[in-house]
Amino acid sequence: MTLSARFGKRPEQLVREDRFYNSGPPPELLRQAFVTPKELFFTRSHAAVPAVDPAAYRLRVSGLVDHELELDLQQLKAGMAHRTGAATLACAGLRRDELIAYRPIPGEVVWGAEPVSNGIWTGVPLREVLRKAGVQSGARHVEFLGLDIVERHGKEFAFGGSIPLDKAMSEEVLLAFEMNGEPLPPVHGFPVRVVVPGCIGARSVKWVSEIIVTDAPSENYFQAHAYKTFPPEIGPETVNWKEGFMLHDLPLNSVIWEPLAEARVAAGEVVVRGWAMATGGATIRKVELSADDGRTWQGAELTEQANRWTWSFWESQVNLPRGKHTLISRATDSAGQVQPELVAPLWNFKGYMNNAWHRVNVEVV
Ligand code: MTE
Repeated sequence: MTLSARFGKRPEQLVREDRFYNSGPPPELLRQAFVTPKELFFTRSHAAVPAVDPAAYRLRVSGLVDHELELDLQQLKAGMAHRTGAATLACAGLRRDELIAYRPIPGEVVWGAEPVSNGIWTGVPLREVLRKAGVQSGARHVEFLGLDIVERHGKEFAFGGSIPLDKAMSEEVLLAFEMNGEPLPPVHGFPVRVVVPGCIGARSVKWVSEIIVTDAPSENYFQAHAYKTFPPEIGPETVNWKEGFMLHDLPLNSVIWEPLAEARVAAGEVVVRGWAMATGGATIRKVELSADDGRTWQGAELTEQANRWTWSFWESQVNLPRGKHTLISRATDSAGQVQPELVAPLWNFKGYMNNAWHRVNVEVV
C-alpha cells in the first residue's frame, strides 16, 4: 500500500515529507473544486498520527476558568450548540520554495503552493465551551494541546499553540468533529480538532485534548520558537527566539494555478485562473494580472467566494503572442492592503509567510 493510500489520499498527492506524511494536492486537481475533497486536502503533521479511541477520549478545560471541565465526546457533541462554516486552512510554509530559490532554507519542508485547502467544518464553537467553564478576568490567551507527541532537541512533548482570547471568543473558531459532512479523518485530527479560520494552520490544533486559559501566549515550542518570523539578516546561529514576530493571521495572498509553471500554451487568448485570500477577516476586493513585469495590470473576475475565512477563485484572459512570458497575480483586500512585490524583503530563515506577487513562467507557442 502506498503512503498516500494509507492516509486516504489520491495517488497524485504530492508527498513533501515521508516520515509524518506531509502532503498537498497538485494544483491541477486542487483547482477543480471550491471545497477540497478529503482525498486531496493537504496534510501537515509534526509527529505521527495518534490512534485515538473515541470512547476513551476526553477534552479537558483548565487554567483561568471558574470550573475545570472534562468532557467526553458525547458531552461535547450532544451538550452544546453546533455550527457549520467554511474555512480555508493554509500552512505558514506555503510558497516556501520561492523563498528558497532566493536564498537556501535548510531543514524545512520544501512546500510550493500546495499546502492550502478549503473545508466545511462542523463542531461546537470554542466560546460555548469557554463560557461553560467561565473565563476569569485576567485571561488573555487560550492554549491548545494535541494528543500527538513531538520530539525536538531530545525532548518529547505535545504539539500545541495558542490564540488571543478575543479570537477564541469569536463565533468562527470551532472544536470541529466533522470535515465536509463526515467525521474527521484520522490524519486531520479525529475525533476533535480546533479550526481557527484566518490564522496560520499551526493554530488549528488536531487531536485536541487540552484547552488551557492563560494570561500569556503558549510556551509550547510551536508558539515560542517555530512559527515566528525574523528579519532577513537573522539566521539560526544569531537568533534570539524571544524577539521574533509570533505568527497569527495568514497573509493576504494570491496564486496562479492555470496555466501551471513552465506550461506551453497556444498563442492568443490564454485563460488564467487562481485563488486569492484576504487577511485579518477582510475580503478580497480585486485580483489583477500583469504580463509585462508589473508595468500594466488588468482586473480578473472573482468567480467564487464563500465568506471572509475562505479563498476566492478568480479568472481572466490575457492575449499573449508567441515567446516566453511571465504571468503575475496581485490581490488587494477590503482593508486596502496589497500583496508585496518581491520575495527578498520577506525572506526569513524558517521560510514562512511568503505572499509576494505570484509569478508563473509560460511558453507561448
Ligand atoms: N495539530 C497537531 N496536534 N499536530 C500537528 O503537527 N500541525 C499543524 C496543525 N495542527 C499539527 C496540528 C499545522 S502546521 C498545520 S498547517 C495544520 O494542522 C494542517 O492541518 P491538516 O493536516 O488537517 O491540513
